[in-house]
Amino acid sequence: MKHYEEVKLNVDTDRLGKEYLDFKHHLGFKTDDKRNIDFNAICINRIPGDPNSISGGNVRGLYWTYPDSTNVEEQRLPYIEEHKYTELCPEFRGTYVEQVYNLIKSKFNLGRVRFLMKPPRSCLSWHRDPEKRLHIPIITNKGCVMVIEDTAFHMPSNGNGYVTDNTKYHNFFNGSEIDRVHIVATVIK
Ligand SMILES: [Fe+2]
Repeated sequence: MKHYEEVKLNVDTDRLGKEYLDFKHHLGFKTDDKRNIDFNAICINRIPGDPNSISGGNVRGLYWTYPDSTNVEEQRLPYIEEHKYTELCPEFRGTYVEQVYNLIKSKFNLGRVRFLMKPPRSCLSWHRDPEKRLHIPIITNKGCVMVIEDTAFHMPSNGNGYVTDNTKYHNFFNGSEIDRVHIVATVIK
């Protein structure tokens, strides 16, 4: 389909979902703005030895959006040096998350890797990012839908990954009544 491509990974999504719930309980979410309920991240990797690389504006990262009726594009948050994100956060050492991290790193040139949770009945802004993304859906529902330009699609939690072209305008909505959880990684060209 236009703007996204399925990649065979054979990940155990039940095991990943259980570890996610445990890390959510122990680590909690990171964001640059607690009022922004639509965005909830747990960072899986970082710039080696640099806790600042997974705090503040670095959690969400640079994007462009049309904030008002003038439809003039605005740039938000700092540019991220994605290629520097090469170290697994220490909390994940020896876990299944580490195995999945190593698997996707062996297949793609990746920057930041994060768990992203979208709450029920929430929607992102209409925006574009500097790079494509690799998604691994973990907990989802048919009502969780990504829209890229004029194409809407649901990514099932089937153990596979999906490369999405986030350099095009897009959003994501969760029309279900459960938290939607994906691993989302930046794909560096
Ligand atoms: Fe995005």
